[in-house]
Amino acid sequence: MKIFRCNVCGEVYIGEERPKSCPFCGAHESYFVLAKEWKLLHSDSLSDVSKENLKKALDLEINNTNFYKAVSGISKDVRVSSMFKGLSKVEREHASAICKHLKVQKPDSNVGSDKAVDSDHENIKEANRRERSAVKFYGEAMKQAPEKEMKDFFNALMQIESDHIILTD
Ligand SMILES: [Fe+2]
Ligand SMILES: [Fe+2]
Ligand SMILES: [Zn+2]
Repeated sequence: MKIFRCNVCGEVYIGEERPKSCPFCGAHESYFVLAKEWKLLHSDSLSDVSKENLKKALDLEINNTNFYKAVSGISKDVRVSSMFKGLSKVEREHASAICKHLKVQKPDSNVGSDKAVDSDHENIKEANRRERSAVKFYGEAMKQAPEKEMKDFFNALMQIESDHIILTD
């Protein structure tokens, strides 16, 4: 057994091989390293543009965390409810990872939870719209980031949210 660690969220994975994606934040395999080589993606001096983008990212992730959690609680379909439970956890990890970069406490907020409606179909459509807009946003943030570490970080998030588009398509 080996000990691996995620460069994006910092979580540990114990197993024979690197996971295809992080069970916590969804980062792709290439972001996993052996624990002894691990260093959290991090930039000591953040540029203003990356700081602003991280703040926007935090709002986005918290809003999506709350929306997905609310949908998971509403849906009567176990598959749909499970999908949103999983998505909510992943977006929560993203919010936590962003807070580490910004060196702030995770805000305690319910914003977004009121957007869940009674229809699974409408909620899935809304989730897909949110994931598409997240991919677009992270793509821009990646382009704008002067720091290599922040480019890698935003790229990781862009890849993960792309997986969520496929999931909700
Ligand atoms: Fe996310
Ligand atoms: Fe997502
Ligand atoms: Zn991770």
